[in-house]
Amino acid sequence: MKDFVYYNPIKIIFGKNSFNKIPELIPSDSRIMLIYGRGSVIKSGILDKILTLLEKYDVILFGGITPNPEFAKCIEASDIIKQKDINFLLAVGGGSVIDAAKFISILPFFSNYRDAWEFMRGNAKPPEKCIPLGVVPTTVGTGSESNSGFVITNTQTKEKLVGVTEVTFPKFSVLNPEVLKSLPKEQIVAGIFDCFVHIVEQYITCKHDGIVQDGYAEALLKGLFEIIEKWSKIEFSYDYTLASNFMWLSSNALNNLLSRGVPSDWSTHTISHVITTLYGIKHACALALVLFNLWRYKFNDKMEKLARYGRNVLGISEKSEKETAIKAIELTENIFRGLGIKTRFEEYGIKSEKVSREVAEYFKNIRNGLGEKRDIFYEDIKKILGGI
Ligand code: NZQ
Ligand code: ZN
Repeated sequence: MKDFVYYNPIKIIFGKNSFNKIPELIPSDSRIMLIYGRGSVIKSGILDKILTLLEKYDVILFGGITPNPEFAKCIEASDIIKQKDINFLLAVGGGSVIDAAKFISILPFFSNYRDAWEFMRGNAKPPEKCIPLGVVPTTVGTGSESNSGFVITNTQTKEKLVGVTEVTFPKFSVLNPEVLKSLPKEQIVAGIFDCFVHIVEQYITCKHDGIVQDGYAEALLKGLFEIIEKWSKIEFSYDYTLASNFMWLSSNALNNLLSRGVPSDWSTHTISHVITTLYGIKHACALALVLFNLWRYKFNDKMEKLARYGRNVLGISEKSEKETAIKAIELTENIFRGLGIKTRFEEYGIKSEKVSREVAEYFKNIRNGLGEKRDIFYEDIKKILGGI
């Protein structure tokens, strides 16, 4: 196991009465900007509930954050923060709203917005200050409520990039499973797959000596498949036990504990962000177009962990490691295809050779390769996406 530092200061308030705690968590003299999406929180009544709890505060609303949150929209919020001297941000929404709010929280401290995008490209340092932020997730799966990372899209430059800083940890995350009452089935299934890929990108890498990390990943995966099995029986209709278990599991999947001291992959996520940007396919669905091809392409490197996953999580035991690993890929793909997750570009009416050329283009000049061995480059990505 490699040396590591683990730091995660987020206060998590969990449960059906968690909203009531929000006023206790925000300093009474705060001038709050409440950030939300395109209206689901209004329709579900979540926004009204929260505004009632904040009636003694000075609150301005900033709505309209879209899925794949845009840089230009974040700048709009940052300008208002500077004009109105806002000193607290509250994000109420899905991963897109939470990510936008994290990025907005540091935007006012860049000397100019161009530097902010250079930071996203890895060419500039982030500010060491941010506007304090609290989050109230209304979807489950991204795990954004439990880390300091954010994914922002620049529509001008056609980039969807990941930013992480030491300061953009939410002060608190209020996890209320009842928010899932209004979440459509396909959004729940998308969240489940996103959560699954978070775990396997930190687990199905290469053999290492991290006993805790592998055991923790397997516990989360077994829990996820148990939830899938029970929830699909009721067509993902609202059930507090399943919603609460999934909410807590998803936060554990990306609070960065799984990856401490052991290699992580993240190539599926990195490639999927380009697919989302170029073809507008939402995050979780873009992941499904990469993951299984990538597992087959990197089969020799990942075989031991695929076989371990097959044995310990899926209960497969074929005659050889290799057959168990092959079966693990096949069974996993079938489970998610059974939930309606597409795994082939042709199912979206796009030719995989075309995609492979256009997406691989984004990685033509990368210096460090993707994947746990940093050995996935332009040619590899073309083959992974072009179908094998
Ligand atoms: O915009 P509104 O009207 O709120 O509607 C949203 C949106 O249309 C709707 N929705 C949200 N909560 C709802 C609801 N509808 C009914 N009831 C509710 N309770 O759902 C739609 C999708 O929302 P979005 O926030 O885009 O989905 P999700 O939560 O899956 O977030 C996806 C974003 O998270 C990023 C992705 O890149 C993507 O941009 N991720 C962030 C990560 C992080 N920071 O750690 C990690 C992830 O890998 C992921 O990359
Ligand atoms: Zn993800």
